Amino acid sequence: MKFFLDTADIAEIEEAASWGVLAGVTTNPTLYSRIGGRLADFPEHIRRIAEVCSGPVSAEAVGLDRESIVNEGLALAGIAENVVVKIPTMPEGLAATRALALRGVKVNMTLCFTVPQALLAARSGAAYVSPFVGRFDDISEDGVAHLADIVEALSNYDFEHQVEVIAASIRSANHVTQAALMGADIATVPFSVLKNLVRHPLTDRGLDAFLADWEKVKGA
Ligand code: E4P
Repeated sequence: MKFFLDTADIAEIEEAASWGVLAGVTTNPTLYSRIGGRLADFPEHIRRIAEVCSGPVSAEAVGLDRESIVNEGLALAGIAENVVVKIPTMPEGLAATRALALRGVKVNMTLCFTVPQALLAARSGAAYVSPFVGRFDDISEDGVAHLADIVEALSNYDFEHQVEVIAASIRSANHVTQAALMGADIATVPFSVLKNLVRHPLTDRGLDAFLADWEKVKGA
């Protein structure tokens, strides 16, 4: 499994990149708004993210009809080679994805919740499909089970291009564990979750004990 960071915060992306484990970044309008982003600065902000992270960087198109989504997608893809256009799962989004894929632009189909949505996204030419896990949990449904269904359904078929599943809307280390066990290609995680992934109380306790014992060695 590859790890993407789900954020628009450049400091977080720099920090994760410095750990040597960052394979990509996903942003969305909410994440950009959360850092106080302004419309006029958006292309430059995405350019900076794409510079810090050499992997795929998803930037979302907000148009609702296929022509505006395609135009936005072309503009976003023109910002940097590693920019991937994020498009919501909807009929106009499928059509725009097909048009962009034919022009060599990679699409991440977002807001994907069901198996049929994921299959349609893959058939439209999306390079990435992003099932949302946590938002199912938020409405008392089992997000992990829905993700598992999507991973299994996509694995039943061959597509004319590579399709990777990005487990999205990740809230916890357990979500990541479950996504990895079922073979999801990527997990896109908030920085708070990424920091938790690397930690365990037994690791901390073990490290404290090793350091204390090393002090004894030095004093012997
Ligand atoms: C995916 O690419 C989305 O940006 C993201 O995972 C949404 O997560 P949320 O449900 O925490 O907003």
